[in-house]
Amino acid sequence: MIRRLGILLSGRGSNFLAIAKAIEQGRLDAEIALVASNVPDAPGLAAARDLGLATWAQASKGVPRAAFDQAIGDALDAHGCDLICLAGYLRLLSPGFIQRFPQRILNIHPSLLPAFPGLDAQHQAWAHGVRVTGCTVHFVDEDLDNGPIIAQTAVPVEEGDSAQELSARILAQEHLLYPAAIARVLAGGWRIEGRRFVIVG
Ligand code: GRF
Repeated sequence: MIRRLGILLSGRGSNFLAIAKAIEQGRLDAEIALVASNVPDAPGLAAARDLGLATWAQASKGVPRAAFDQAIGDALDAHGCDLICLAGYLRLLSPGFIQRFPQRILNIHPSLLPAFPGLDAQHQAWAHGVRVTGCTVHFVDEDLDNGPIIAQTAVPVEEGDSAQELSARILAQEHLLYPAAIARVLAGGWRIEGRRFVIVG
């Protein structure tokens, strides 16, 4: 059965495009059922339209979180989304949204969580002076950048790296990690034990 993905984004959408490319190249057996955004002029949304994908957009500014999340959740359900992939979605999700889609929301974060949650994680890691950082795909729970970890890739900080150079190398790894982690989740044969993503059988 081909699984239907709902993508939520607010910006340029390079992770969304990496997912679309992985599907096109047969590395990910899924289809993108909807690309939704809280930023109607997000470049990622324009890219989705160019690919002929279904899109949904509504400006979230000033809209109460629960009401906005109800609307976006209804759009995801109307398009039959099995799994929701946050890809640079810059808005906190309400508890109601998270409870509506249990273990069905993934996020990618540009650090080795639990280090450096929140905004600008690549710069946080660079400024802290760590020698290794990376990226993480995790389930979304009610706390920021906190849910069970599905997959991570380490990226060394090279001598003389600027924060921008480091960010670019992390992003290249994000584009590989996210489709692979989605494929792992869709393949099934896992369960969550405490905080741990455990392969069974
Ligand atoms: C990525 O660095 C991702 O890890 C973070 O937001 C950024 C989104 O970039 N959550 P893009 O819009 O996918 O290019």
